[in-house]
Amino acid sequence: MATKANWNYPTAVRFGAGRIAELPDALKAAGITRPLLVTDAGLARLPVTQDALALLKAAGIEAGLFAEVKPNPVAGNVEAGINALREGGYDGVIAFGGGSGLDVGKVIAFMAGQTRPMWDFEDIGDWWTRADPKGIFPIVAVPTTAGTGSEVGRAGVITDEATHTKKVIFHPLMMPKVVIADPELTVGMPTFITVGTGFDALAHCLEAYCAPGYHPLADGIAVEGVRLVLENLPKVVSYPTGIEARGHMMSAAAMGATAFQKGLGAIHALSHPVGSLHDTHHGMTNAVFMPYVLAANREAIEERIERLAAYCGLDPSFDAFMAAVLDLRKQLGVPHTLKDLKVGPQNRETIGDMAIVDPTAGGNPVRLTRDLALEIFDNAREGRL
Ligand SMILES: NC(=O)c1ccc[n+]([C@@H]2O[C@H](COP(=O)([O-])OP(=O)(O)OC[C@H]3O[C@@H](n4cnc5c(N)ncnc54)[C@H](O)[C@@H]3O)[C@@H](O)[C@H]2O)c1
Ligand SMILES: [Fe+2]
Repeated sequence: MATKANWNYPTAVRFGAGRIAELPDALKAAGITRPLLVTDAGLARLPVTQDALALLKAAGIEAGLFAEVKPNPVAGNVEAGINALREGGYDGVIAFGGGSGLDVGKVIAFMAGQTRPMWDFEDIGDWWTRADPKGIFPIVAVPTTAGTGSEVGRAGVITDEATHTKKVIFHPLMMPKVVIADPELTVGMPTFITVGTGFDALAHCLEAYCAPGYHPLADGIAVEGVRLVLENLPKVVSYPTGIEARGHMMSAAAMGATAFQKGLGAIHALSHPVGSLHDTHHGMTNAVFMPYVLAANREAIEERIERLAAYCGLDPSFDAFMAAVLDLRKQLGVPHTLKDLKVGPQNRETIGDMAIVDPTAGGNPVRLTRDLALEIFDNAREGRL
């Protein structure tokens, strides 16, 4: 893909193949001289991370590496990272990876100079105003998956191990100063992660578009994001080194996260407890839930989905859009049921309780009651559409 572009929307994004070479310059632009690169343990060993560290070294930048981040990251990962940041005298963070590395990197930088505990900054009401903005270190974000869009977001999702809940830590200044969106970095993803993260981007765009409330800016971004995923996710799976399609997926991921400030919905409200209780992949869990949630919300969203279907070049009907989602899942090997994802019935009641208080539940176009959450869960377990 020859396309290179600089966007300031919603933050400074350097988009294009090969632009990881600009990492030293991006650090300079963010005012970072001694960065701590934060990523997950698996990714730390791969060439994509080692190459980034090597190019920092070649530029004379002394960077540290913190890789104690697990997928579905937990509070202990953040605590250990804050200690590494403080002890090493680093002055900023390179948040590097999929959503897990990006989220932990961002929250470490946010917590660097705070005196209150992390859970005091959960995304509830105006809790973020408790933070000292001067204590937030600058962040350069480098996504290596195309899904969460966390690189352009102002929050990090961290699991509270005590309660097995995914909590959102939010502050407007957690937004990275510079993003390097280089699609070449995503080429090495295993297919399962390519598909799962791609469906996460689709879920963000779709749920944001269907969330109630007046936000035509978010709606506009979301519909183009949906189109990009429908057209490009099959291409990256059948031709993994195709940089053009990889680039479109990376854009769709950033678009999803930009749009979902409008709200998310029941896909995420159910996927969060399932992910934290069963340690399933976030995006893949969304992919399983997607058609069951669409069906449950049908009456409230039918008209909107007809417009979306028309924009995506499908028959302008709810059924055509549903068929496109089901086809995409089937073509890309997404499990059709929670059973196929190895999610048993044992936490059913807890999942119902947790889904309705998840911060994303309020964005569902139909009120997500406990009964409705359990009905969707049961349908997704049994494959009832
Ligand atoms: N901040 C947000 O707005 C937001 C939004 C959605 C999801 N999330 C969170 O993000 C997390 C999920 O992120 P994710 O789906 O990107 O997965 P991930 O970061 O957990 O990564 C999944 C796996 O893919 C590997 N991987 C990543 N990039 C790779 C590459 N280029 N080559 C080879 N392997 C690679 C990782 O090592 C890991 O094993 C969840 O914790 C979820 O809750 C956050
Ligand atoms: Fe998500």
